[in-house]
Amino acid sequence: MNATTPLTALQVMQDSPVIPVIVLNDVAHAVPMARALLAGGIRMLEVTLRTKQALACIEAIARDVPEAVVGAGTVRSKADALAAARAGARFAVSPGYTSAVGQACRDANLALLPGVASSSEIMMATDDGFTELKFFPAVQAGGVGMLKAWSGPFFDVKFCPTGGITLQSAPDFLALGNVVCVGGSWLVPANVPETGDWGRVTRLAMETQVLRK
Ligand code: 3PG
Repeated sequence: MNATTPLTALQVMQDSPVIPVIVLNDVAHAVPMARALLAGGIRMLEVTLRTKQALACIEAIARDVPEAVVGAGTVRSKADALAAARAGARFAVSPGYTSAVGQACRDANLALLPGVASSSEIMMATDDGFTELKFFPAVQAGGVGMLKAWSGPFFDVKFCPTGGITLQSAPDFLALGNVVCVGGSWLVPANVPETGDWGRVTRLAMETQVLRK
């Protein structure tokens, strides 16, 4: 996956059954975290823009772990999208959708998984040409039942449900025809950086490979 070729949202979703949602508080943890996930077979990495260090972490992964594909999560504005692209992100994930975020990602060559939680939001995103979407917060907003209901009117839309999903519940989502992958933070337990147990992240990542469709 050449770093100069823009990705499509479908490529991001199809790479592995789970996209890890990563929160990093220290740039020193970025590369070990990326390498641990990569060792477990996961290379699409969503680093959320929720901490002061997030952009520096994206930059470090893009520079030092070229086998990984780093993206930015929690992209809420045009400024977030531009900053993420400048830091080296190859894709973006947003908790909701605005046309401004959609356009900014297009202009910056960032594949975008726009977040939606309602039929109207799906229609806004598809109106702007986005047909691969993040369903967020998936469990809280209706889970598997909601996705089944959407498969009728939105037969041409594919989803990455995220929010409240676990290794145990992931198969129920992945069994649906309109789900390509799921997102989740369970692969990166909050205390791993302080304990230095990167092997745990690798093991959690490896476990997800049985979910492959
Ligand atoms: C998020 O953006 O926080 C994701 O939805 C992660 O949700 P989870 O922690 O329930 O996996």
